[in-house]
Order: sequence, then structure tokens, then C-alpha cells
Amino acid sequence: MKKFYNKKDLKGCLLKYKSNNKTIGFVPTMGALHEGHLSLIKKAKEKNDVVVVSIFVNPTQFDNEEDLKKYPKTIENDIKLLESVSCDVLFSPSVEEIYAKNIVSKKFNFDGLEHQMEGKFRDGHFDGVGTIVKALFEIVEPDKAYFGQKDFQQLQIIKKMVKKNNLPLKIKGCPIFREKDGLAMSSRNTRLTEEHREIAPFIFKTLKKVKKKFYKKEISEINEWVENQFKKQPLLELEYFTIAEEKTLESAETKESNKKYRAFIAVFAGKIRLIDNIRLKN
Ligand code: PAJ
Repeated sequence: MKKFYNKKDLKGCLLKYKSNNKTIGFVPTMGALHEGHLSLIKKAKEKNDVVVVSIFVNPTQFDNEEDLKKYPKTIENDIKLLESVSCDVLFSPSVEEIYAKNIVSKKFNFDGLEHQMEGKFRDGHFDGVGTIVKALFEIVEPDKAYFGQKDFQQLQIIKKMVKKNNLPLKIKGCPIFREKDGLAMSSRNTRLTEEHREIAPFIFKTLKKVKKKFYKKEISEINEWVENQFKKQPLLELEYFTIAEEKTLESAETKESNKKYRAFIAVFAGKIRLIDNIRLKN
């Protein structure tokens, strides 16, 4: 695997691939890699000649200083994992390389997607994500880029950004990869205490029950039921639960047969914030 720490060297390498008509698949990450990340990389390997993975803990998308400071950094293990799935190129720039001295995000308009769910609770988060992903797309210029449905709102926002700016690449969404007990894999899971880790699968268990209830119950009833489930669970604090339409991400109050819905959830397990979602069928 080739490793690059600055834009110029990376671009030089990618230019050679591109002039040989090789297709480039790109997987942006913040490192602390796990099987969820690897599933995106494997998909990219299947569909492209060359796979580029970036590892960059993007300061402008964090609204919480402690979360940024404590974000796990495991670069040596990440490199081993990337080699195990035959990743071709790693791009791991410094903060200065990306932002120079101006560590701020640009302002984006994602047609309202940014004001729902995560946008309500993480101030400026999607401006930070938009800023870094657009910058990385401009550096790597991939044919396809791969994002997980684990961060479904992020995936929809990136698709919107690509469409609105006519960026010349395709965005591919990939399924959520889970631990055996159902907990969605996340770099933050390693920061859970033993007791929080033990109880965390409750989140997905609840979502699976929501999926069953969605066939026959009203949305308001389901919302109330979820809130009550979490009230009985002192180790987990529900931040939000909502059933939203996939396209607009607006919370739904009634079901319409021509629309697709998902249930979205954010929960604090101690200090660690976990998110998850599930596709619903009406
Ligand atoms: P990060 O949290 O490292 O995730 C990188 C990619 O892996 C994202 O597309 C995310 O949705 C996907 N991913 C994470 N956990 C997953 C799981 N359990 N199953 C499937 N895919 C999973 O998301 C980011 O980084 C950043 O916001 C980034 C896009 C890199 C911009 O900084």
C-alpha cells in the first residue's frame, strides 16, 4: 500500500493511475478502523481498479472539544487492516495540510437536510462534513465514493452536495455493519465502559421492534413506546428517536404508501453518543 501525507504527492500518484484509465474508488474515514469501514473498502475494491482511503480526524465537524480530543487514534493498526484488504493508497494528511492556518468550515445549504436530527443536536456538524468531504473529493477526484448507511443523514447530505455542485462522481451507500449482538460498529464503541458496552445492543433491539410495530401501529404510538423503553433503561439516555422520510429526512406523523421511511436514534451511553437507524416497510 502506498502512503501519502500531502496533497501534492498523492495527486502525482493518482495522475499516473488516471492517465492509464484506471478507475478510482474512494473511502473517506476518520480512522480507528473496524469491520464497518472495511466493508466499504471491500465494496470499493470490487468495483474499481484502485482504492484510496483517507484517514483524517476532521476538527471542524466536532461540536464537542472532548469528543475531538478523545477520538481514538490507532494508525498502526489501521495500516495493518488496510493492508489486509489490499487497499492501494492511504492518504493521511495533517490538519495544516488540509486547512492551512484557517481551521473553519464553509457554509452549506443542503436544502434543509442539515436541519434535521443530527443537525439539531450537533451545531455546525454538517458544514464541517461538507467542507472536508468536498475538499477531499477535489484532491482525490474519484470516480466513485463509498459511505455507510450507519450515518444515513451524512450519506443523503453528501449525495445532495454532489448533485447541487454537479461534482463528477457517484456516491454509493453501503449497509450498516454490526457486532454479533447487533450493536452498529463505530470507532466510538471502544470508548464505552464495560457496563455501557453490555447494554448498548438494546438500541438495535429497540429499532428491530420498531420495524415490527411499524406495520400496524401509528407513528405517535411508536414514538411514545420508544421513549418509555428508554425511561426504563437508566444506563442509556435517549437524545432523539424519530421516524423520518428517507428523502427529506423530515419527521413523519403519518405513513404514506408512496414514501420510504427509516427510524433514527441517538443515545448517550454515559459520555459516549451512539447513533443507529433502520429501514422500515409500511
Ligand atoms: P467515520 O466515522 O470514520 O466513517 C467513515 C465511513 O464509514 C462513513 O461513511 C461511515 O458511515 C462508515 N461507517 C462507519 N461505521 C459503519 C458501520 N458500522 N457500517 C457501515 N459503514 C460504517 O463518517 C466519517 O468518518 C466522517 O464524517 C467523514 C465522512 C470521513 C468526514 O470526515
